[in-house]
Amino acid sequence: MRLVLVGPPGAGKGTQAQYIASNLSIPKISTGDIFRANVSGGTDLGKLAKTFMDRGDLVPDEVTIAMVRDRLSEDDAQDGFLLDGFPRNVPQAEILKKMLADWGQALDLVLELVVDDDEVVRRLAGRRTCSQCGRIWHVEFDDKQDDRCDACDGALFQRDDDKEETVRHRLEVYGEQTAPLISYYADEGILVGVDATGPVEEVTQRAMEAIRPFMG
Ligand code: AP5
Ligand code: MG
Ligand code: ZN
Repeated sequence: MRLVLVGPPGAGKGTQAQYIASNLSIPKISTGDIFRANVSGGTDLGKLAKTFMDRGDLVPDEVTIAMVRDRLSEDDAQDGFLLDGFPRNVPQAEILKKMLADWGQALDLVLELVVDDDEVVRRLAGRRTCSQCGRIWHVEFDDKQDDRCDACDGALFQRDDDKEETVRHRLEVYGEQTAPLISYYADEGILVGVDATGPVEEVTQRAMEAIRPFMG
């Protein structure tokens, strides 16, 4: 299964990606996570990406595409993958299509996670991420009283780009650059929308039901 998750910041792409990828036994590839790992590692890629991420802007396409190409070339991605956060504009989608075609591959499905802006702001304001295992938590919805991960006891941190002003800008960038992908993939006949409100497990169930007809 070759799957893309698309949706505004805070829609729950990362949260759902961890469950969907594990249900389907495919690797979860989150461009945001790879950039953040490079930022904490102090690599050249991280230094470049940080200036864009801190503003809530997209990292330039050539850098992002080269990174995704490398990741998709790895052994574990040959029989399927779940992309979270890529593609994020039509040029990235076009290059991805060509890249996969060169390898005799194609996307099976693009899942759009649908939530409104108010919910996005509530979700991002309370988001915490585990510095050790990468799991995503929410202060209110997961009733997190302490700053440790329930899965591995790692320290939780708040993302630099979750400040209210930056969140607002990320939403604008989504509307201008990423939302056009919805009609792009609808035209390709591989877009399915999923209501991403309600409890996490219910969203996962809806997503799995949407995916099933496209499997095998
Ligand atoms: P990225 O890391 O991809 O950020 P994003 O798209 O803004 O999305 P988020 O990770 O903020 O939200 P999410 O949908 O994953 O939600 P989550 O599951 O965490 O990108 C960051 C930056 O990297 C970009 O701004 C850009 O600079 C750069 N970048 C990345 N990819 C790029 C690309 N392709 N091209 C160029 N630049 C790129 O959930 C949010 C919160 O809600 C959590 O606390 C969670 O616990 C909670 N939650 C989730 N589901 C529910 C639910 N059902 N009910 C209640 N709470 C929930
Ligand atoms: Mg995410
Ligand atoms: Zn953890």
